[in-house]
Amino acid sequence: MEICSVQNLGKVYKGAVSQVALSDINLTIQAGEFVGIMGPSGSGKTTLLNMISTIDTPTSGKITISGQNPFTMSQDELAMFRRRELGFVFQSFNLLHTLTVKENILLPLTLDGVKVAEMNDRIAHLADNLGITPILDKRTYEISGGQAQRTAVARALIHQPKLLLADEPTGNLDSKSARDVMEIMERRNKENRDTMMLVTHDPVAASYCNRVVFIKDGQLYNEIHCGDNRGAFYQKILNVLSLLGGTGHEFSPVRP
Ligand SMILES: Nc1ncnc2c1ncn2[C@@H]1O[C@H](COP(=O)(O)OP(=O)(O)OP(=O)(O)O)[C@@H](O)[C@H]1O
Ligand SMILES: [Mg+2]
Repeated sequence: MEICSVQNLGKVYKGAVSQVALSDINLTIQAGEFVGIMGPSGSGKTTLLNMISTIDTPTSGKITISGQNPFTMSQDELAMFRRRELGFVFQSFNLLHTLTVKENILLPLTLDGVKVAEMNDRIAHLADNLGITPILDKRTYEISGGQAQRTAVARALIHQPKLLLADEPTGNLDSKSARDVMEIMERRNKENRDTMMLVTHDPVAASYCNRVVFIKDGQLYNEIHCGDNRGAFYQKILNVLSLLGGTGHEFSPVRP
């Protein structure tokens, strides 16, 4: 089943100088897929994710999510659609510091008026899954970066979105915490069949995906699939990155 389809998508940022950020992007994401998006800085990854997130609007082309076109909806319909169908994880966490970890995670459900018993049930399960049960009652300034990122992942998953979108979710983390977050996302993908799309610079993080799509200068450059060997997939990712050039020095040649 198809969750998301992007057809002939283009984005131009208009300004004193117009910037073509994406042109003629075609991409289909099937239910249960875990897709990585990679490419040099400025290649258009965040732009693509922001349009699929419905945060920004395309200049041309079409995006369909769960069979619907979000860009023809009213503001209210769109807000509801986002809350019900999509989950977001940003690099900067976006947690509210006046709330506890638990309150942050439950926020999307509170907005939707879900019953307390149902909320407690879901959070117990997710927190256990993510290893954050002991910190649920802490304030967000009392927890580490890795714990904050896992909290952000929990908040994005609590309403069981059809599609989870993450922009550099491991960008601020040390390599151990980055692996923890990726392993959690991988487990959710394998066990729950959650559909996920992840923008990342990190080839180790990307190697957890089933498929990695590369973007260069706003266009699709290549895509590769993970076989049954993640180490080999990691090497393939490094190979494409070295062909892509630009930011090669950022990547470590060490196997995961
Ligand atoms: N709001 C904006 N207005 C004008 N130009 C923009 C805007 N946002 C992004 N751009 C430009 O569009 C292009 C793509 O930017 P985008 O943020 O999508 O890149 P990216 O691949 O996410 O890069 P990075 O890896 O550095 O995060 C860049 O040339 C950028 O300068
Ligand atoms: Mg970006």
